[in-house]
Amino acid sequence: MAETRARTLDRAAPRTKNNSFGRYDAIMNNNKKVIGIVGSYRKGGVVDKAVSEILSAAGRNGADTEKIYLVDQRILFCTNCRECTQSPGTERGRCILDDDMEALLLQIEAAYSLVIGSPVNFNNVTAITRTFMERCVGYVYWPWGIEKPQIRKPGTGRKVVLVSASSAPSRMGRTFKDTLNALRYLANTLNGHSVGQLLVDNVKQSDMNIPDNMLKKAALLGRKLAK
Ligand SMILES: Cc1cc2nc3c(=O)[nH]c(=O)nc-3n(C[C@H](O)[C@H](O)[C@H](O)COP(=O)(O)O)c2cc1C
Repeated sequence: MAETRARTLDRAAPRTKNNSFGRYDAIMNNNKKVIGIVGSYRKGGVVDKAVSEILSAAGRNGADTEKIYLVDQRILFCTNCRECTQSPGTERGRCILDDDMEALLLQIEAAYSLVIGSPVNFNNVTAITRTFMERCVGYVYWPWGIEKPQIRKPGTGRKVVLVSASSAPSRMGRTFKDTLNALRYLANTLNGHSVGQLLVDNVKQSDMNIPDNMLKKAALLGRKLAK
């Protein structure tokens, strides 16, 4: 199925001097690009709309914005060869698979800040978001023989806003817990740290919009990402 996904990524995305810390280049070039990563299967769905609102606000505050739909990318499953985790240092280890991931990560690395969104599916992120996450394993150093992976450069860099949506009401307690943990870990792996979240609960089947009372929050979060 991955083979049939449309390719929309600009494959000529520039390679930065230090790929893992493109935010430095972004600042030096006064290029405040805010990238939204959508891990929902519904274009125009709640997560997509929420990401759009945040990006629009970032745009109004002077940032360039871009949205990436993971479903449009050709992202193969990680094969667990762990080749990418062997080399020491802060640079991301390179994956042996040939698909859209390398160009995608170069694009993300050059971003000033990020929005990452996934619906709650079975209490966690969607499968496409998880597939993308697993392919980010090159950001950790995990040679054979050490017990657990170390993130090469844990989230000290770019600001990240986390977005999610669920059909259950959040008063049911755990609704967003595991999804947010996964999104936070992804943000941290991508050299970022969460500066806020937009969570839409109680989504009905026909709901495709975020509630009006969340628009203000989306505007504030977008402004934060552009600062
Ligand atoms: C396969 C699947 C699993 C889901 N699992 C959950 C769940 O565990 N908890 C929940 O609250 N909503 C669950 N949902 C509902 C979605 O989170 C909800 O419809 C969300 O709005 C989808 O985001 P979207 O509008 O961006 O497509 C599930 C939906 C699907 C299709």
